[in-house]
Amino acid sequence: ANKSLLILPGDGIGPEVMRQVRRVIDWMAKRRSVSFDVTEGLVGGAAYEAHGTPLKDETMADALSADAVLLGAVGGPKWDQLPYDKRPERGLLRLRKEMDLFANLRPAVVYPGLVDASALKPELVRDLDILIVRELTGGVYFGEPRGITTLPDGQRRGVNTQVYTTNEIIRVAKVAFELARKRQSRLHSVEKANVMESGVLWREEVQKLHDSDYTDVQLEHMYADNCAMQLVRQPKQFDVIVTDNLFGDILSDCAAMLTGSLGMLPSASFGAPDASGRRKAMYEPVHGSAPDIAGRDVANPLATILSFAMMLRYSFDMDEDADLIEKAVKTVLASGIRTGDIMGPNTARVSCSTMGETLVRE
Ligand code: NAI
Ligand code: MG
Repeated sequence: ANKSLLILPGDGIGPEVMRQVRRVIDWMAKRRSVSFDVTEGLVGGAAYEAHGTPLKDETMADALSADAVLLGAVGGPKWDQLPYDKRPERGLLRLRKEMDLFANLRPAVVYPGLVDASALKPELVRDLDILIVRELTGGVYFGEPRGITTLPDGQRRGVNTQVYTTNEIIRVAKVAFELARKRQSRLHSVEKANVMESGVLWREEVQKLHDSDYTDVQLEHMYADNCAMQLVRQPKQFDVIVTDNLFGDILSDCAAMLTGSLGMLPSASFGAPDASGRRKAMYEPVHGSAPDIAGRDVANPLATILSFAMMLRYSFDMDEDADLIEKAVKTVLASGIRTGDIMGPNTARVSCSTMGETLVRE
């Protein structure tokens, strides 16, 4: 049977960049004889306009039954005043929650010709290729107790709780070890075991998992503050980093700036494997709906196309096709063809659709 793919373009530049992914899918059908059963659905403001909700139950069901979901972006000023449960981002949060996407993958890759976009010196980031795996459904963002209370003396007190169970740690660490195996077999596990109990548990569980199942992967433990420093000092020392929700949020934004280009950053989120070993998965660019440039065919479609390439690699084991796409991205960028967000010296500015066309030709 064909692989089933749910495409949710969303709002703003979402539909524009997704049209370029469609070009790649069409090319694959024609030239690689690969076809997907593609269903398209509405999410975010687009779904609200059509149905009064940012995600219909039917679309949620489609997402749960699809082999993979590819999402553009949601949101825009038009919907900023809606009550919280109608807002576009609620659609995205519902997808993440009901698919139980606990592992968030954020690659930070520096492409040839984009070295100058980095916040760091070229020699520090040339050919950089790191992958951060962030735990996404646990930790301090969800732990109980939480809340703001007023103390007897009138002060107010804000509380959050960092909680991790062994299962939560092991399942995300497994994802990271598996990914490391597909890459350079090096994993940094990042926490603050020096001051946090959850960090002590994290370190122990990751080490145990390594010793029982992944001795072929080189494991190092690192404190999160040191990791932040090392990412900026010598980022190429890393291959895969696995860390909790809070540290992963911060470190992945930091790593993103090493590449300097929001329009180039893909992401993937995984849930638990089913009986056949296949993980629920959603792929999306890191950027938002960019209302400031929407509707003008100038957005960079590469983050979404690279998210699609991640889908081929991780959900469908189509490494060869993923490689073809990633190689084409490198070649096109090296030739100086650029969208407006990644212009440099001696480059030619093209539209979103021309970038898609050029990539497919390459
Ligand atoms: P944004 O990522 O949409 O835009 C930030 C800046 O980067 C803008 O100047 C934009 O033009 C530029 N940019 C972003 N993607 C680009 C691309 N592919 N090509 C060229 N330039 C690009 O973030 P912002 O402005 O904070 O949020 C805009 C809307 O998007 C808001 O409604 C926000 O809630 C939503 N949003 C949605 C996300 C999602 O769907 N995952 C993530 C972040 C924001
Ligand atoms: Mg963040």
